[in-house]
Amino acid sequence: MTILDGKKISNDIKNEIAEQVKKMKENGEKVPHLAAIIVGNDGASLTYVASKVRACERVGFESTMVRLSNTTSQVELLDKIKELNENSDIDGFIIQLPLPKQIDTQKVLLAVNPDKDVDGFHPMNFGKMALDMSTFIPATPFGILELLDRYNVDTQGKHTVVIGRSHIVGRPMSILMGRKGFPGNSTVTLTHSHTKNITQITSQADIIISALGVPNFLKAEMVKDDAVIIDVGITRVPDDTTEKGYRITGDVDFENVSKKASFITPVPGGVGPMTIAMLLKNTLLARERQM
Ligand code: GUN
Repeated sequence: MTILDGKKISNDIKNEIAEQVKKMKENGEKVPHLAAIIVGNDGASLTYVASKVRACERVGFESTMVRLSNTTSQVELLDKIKELNENSDIDGFIIQLPLPKQIDTQKVLLAVNPDKDVDGFHPMNFGKMALDMSTFIPATPFGILELLDRYNVDTQGKHTVVIGRSHIVGRPMSILMGRKGFPGNSTVTLTHSHTKNITQITSQADIIISALGVPNFLKAEMVKDDAVIIDVGITRVPDDTTEKGYRITGDVDFENVSKKASFITPVPGGVGPMTIAMLLKNTLLARERQM
């Protein structure tokens, strides 16, 4: 069994990006600049955005964090997006999700200039992804592809079962794994809350990508021998024995599933760190495209 070490690979990627930024600076070029809008005070979202800003500093990018109050109106948020769309110093930006109830997420994502949409959430970029056109691939699915690639996991002709159809992970992942090329060329089943007999489906899978957000959902009896297991779950479970009062738990019963798996991602230290590395990669891409 091989652990897919997202922490190590994401560090490798950040070092590669830092090297490119260094060359940009030496050539007198502008370095990539990422902005992140965060609306409200959700603890997990604030933590994620802080990590994204730290990652920018680490690789030599410029970063801007835009904090808006929990009562921000749709119009105010759209104004801010317009400002970032028009600011030529900013190469790419993201709007941290989820957004407060008064805001229509789809309208907001539509307002982002697709050339600056480094999250790859704009329908135009999502469509390009589905049509094999060059675009920004959403960071978490992009990170999973990169992990599979760097560990030479064979996906060709394999049966991939994706659990969860979120717009951010499950849905794009199901498209990407079935695309032509590597990693891809796999036969994909997308399962979700209305799927019947899920164990029957997962137990036929060569590759399982679980993005459900239910701790310890995937048990050993749902998995066949030598399956590749990708755990995208990052649920905060209350735990008084930890300093923060919670621990991060994945969708996979790691202790038992890892005994059957050929490759498996840990939580934490698997898919999570890859997401940030690939956001940086998309931002670098956005900068290069504007040159
Ligand atoms: N919320 C959870 N994951 C993500 C992500 O990748 N990007 C943004 N913007 N919000 C998220």
